[in-house]
Amino acid sequence: MYTIAELTQKINTAVEGIQYNAEPKNLYDPIRYILSIGGKRIRPLLMLMGYNLYKEDVDAIMNNALALEAYHNFTLLHDDLMDKSDLRRGNPTVHKKWNENTAILSGDTMLIMAYQLFNKGAKNEEAWTAFINATLGVGEGQQYDMDFETRNDVTEAEYMEMIRMKTSLLLGYALKIGSLLGGANQADVDHLYTFGEKMGLAYQLQDDLLDVYGDPTKFQKKLGGDIVENKKTFMLINAYMLADETQKAELDRWINAKDFSAQEKIDAVTHIYNILGINKLAQQKIEELFAESLKSLDLVTVPEEKKTELRLFANKLMGRKY
Ligand code: IPE
Ligand code: IPE
Ligand code: MG
Ligand code: MG
Ligand code: MG
Repeated sequence: MYTIAELTQKINTAVEGIQYNAEPKNLYDPIRYILSIGGKRIRPLLMLMGYNLYKEDVDAIMNNALALEAYHNFTLLHDDLMDKSDLRRGNPTVHKKWNENTAILSGDTMLIMAYQLFNKGAKNEEAWTAFINATLGVGEGQQYDMDFETRNDVTEAEYMEMIRMKTSLLLGYALKIGSLLGGANQADVDHLYTFGEKMGLAYQLQDDLLDVYGDPTKFQKKLGGDIVENKKTFMLINAYMLADETQKAELDRWINAKDFSAQEKIDAVTHIYNILGINKLAQQKIEELFAESLKSLDLVTVPEEKKTELRLFANKLMGRKY
């Protein structure tokens, strides 16, 4: 049984060892770049942890795990373009450092590399189907995320379903694929999937909370991007629910503003969140979802001591600052 630190070390070494074609440099350099500036690498970690509940030879599925990280990084290249984000992992985004077309094509190539890596990994029909379902679902979630930018009647339930697709699926499937490849029984696979999925909901809610309230010296992304882009987050949806008429009008004014200072909009919307206690509400929801996710882990039928690292992981994630 490996610790989180040991598995992370293995993943980092494996990411550094990914082989790229030599040319064209302008296609592969951005891929090398995004994969070299870090990231928490929680998806490959979850896959290895899911596998390690049942089997010891985690290196046997390293390519499957790398595939998930490559896929995740592909989504980030395109997500940053779609969200007009200039900063990723404390560094300029690929479309800023190079240009938009580079972010598109290097992203596409990373997507193909993800399938190539999975194909080089441990073979299992069900795991392949899971990988395809996960990666297809993320795109659907991302489309809803964008559709919601221009809708003003998005409900909390719609938001939860959107983040389930764009973020939770990958966490759930990481555990599902890992445990499937480890030979887990179907009930365990399902409980681990649910554990990851619920944790993923909390993870995205936390991402949205940090986007407004994160510590700028730690967050590694530009604060306030979601407010500027009119993202229909749990926070904005609940602010509308709790706002009085004046606050609603103020929120409407900023959402509909065409020509505005980004910082002024961020400050004004954050001010309303502060008055309404939206940060506490979001924090509460995050804690609820985390607690719920752990109940699914309880149901997994491996000896309790094997689950220690996953519990530790969930707790560490809850306290994350970036
Ligand atoms: C960012 O993912 C996108 C979300 C789903 C919130 P991570 O927070 O896992 O980003 P990295 O890979 O650690 O940088
Ligand atoms: C992105 O959500 C989820 C995916 C990349 C699929 P966000 O747009 O909130 O992620 P960040 O904040 O840019 O990392
Ligand atoms: Mg984004
Ligand atoms: Mg986005
Ligand atoms: Mg975000």
